[in-house]
Amino acid sequence: MHKYAYLESGRYARGWHIMLLSQEISVGEVKKLHYFEHDFVAYRGESGRVAILDAHCPHLGANLASGEGRVVGDTLACPFHGWTFDPDGTCVDIPYASKIPDNAVNALKGWPVIEKNGFIALWYDAEYPQPLDYLPDIPAWGHANWGDWVFSRSRIRAKACDVIENIVDIAHFPHVHGGNVQSFENRFTEHSVTQLSRIQRDPNASMITPPNLEFDVAQARSDPGGTEADAWGDATYHGPSIMYYYTESVGPDVSFRSWWVNWHTPVNQQELDLCSAVIVSSLNTTQPLPEDFISMYPKMAHAAFGQDVEIWKDKVYRANPILCDGDGPIAKLRRWYEHFYLPR
Ligand code: FES
Ligand SMILES: [Fe+2]
Repeated sequence: MHKYAYLESGRYARGWHIMLLSQEISVGEVKKLHYFEHDFVAYRGESGRVAILDAHCPHLGANLASGEGRVVGDTLACPFHGWTFDPDGTCVDIPYASKIPDNAVNALKGWPVIEKNGFIALWYDAEYPQPLDYLPDIPAWGHANWGDWVFSRSRIRAKACDVIENIVDIAHFPHVHGGNVQSFENRFTEHSVTQLSRIQRDPNASMITPPNLEFDVAQARSDPGGTEADAWGDATYHGPSIMYYYTESVGPDVSFRSWWVNWHTPVNQQELDLCSAVIVSSLNTTQPLPEDFISMYPKMAHAAFGQDVEIWKDKVYRANPILCDGDGPIAKLRRWYEHFYLPR
């Protein structure tokens, strides 16, 4: 028996998980996805609706995305013998049968899906499929001057429980991210945990340099527009894996506001996809942001994660850690996170 339910193998957090950004799947397109040790197929029908189904056909087991897949209206036809499924996974046609067998009608699982804010999320719950409505709108999304998400996705070796713990870990900033914490507070609700923080860049603080960066992270720290500039930010996990972050930064050269969506989607017990998507807009309506800043900022945002990844990929998980009085509310975060793994 493990101390926390999320340490039991084969279990994944109940809730919304981002599978794709909207921009990654166009009408008529079919994608193979593999998350939660499970094969899925996603497709966008002619009405624009996105569906995510179990990948393997209940007939003879073909992957519904093989051979680029075959979208017909809002349904998906299997490339092997043409059995056709609607967005709920219901078998609606077998082109060469006079009757659809009763046990074939609901044999394929269609997963609850929501598309909003430019991303596509799946409700993962092995037991009860009824999703909860807790993912807020992002007010800037889709508005003029903001543009579409610029995103990065990295498949990394890490545990979801380590990623989520970052939100309360006040003590790692001057060691991993090169910043000093001016103020820091966490707030919890049933389905959210928020970090309200003000982090001041500090050239004397230590930080980790992730490999293969396209820019000098130390240089970025001293750049007035860099992610390590004096900035306040409000980061909230909505559920177990999707974090929204809003930040504003005022500097002598560049003043901007930015929304980030950071998420992790578990692949298996050892790996997850770590993703960050950014939109950014000038705080000064008469002064647009410099082009090089717009292209570099999302890379710097993802690099901030890269600093944490360097720790996560080699660490072990301490179920019974020794903590001190300067640590953030780690035990509270763990109890909060565990409830996504316990029966409803
Ligand atoms: S395997 Fe899908 S139709 Fe036969
Ligand atoms: Fe961090």
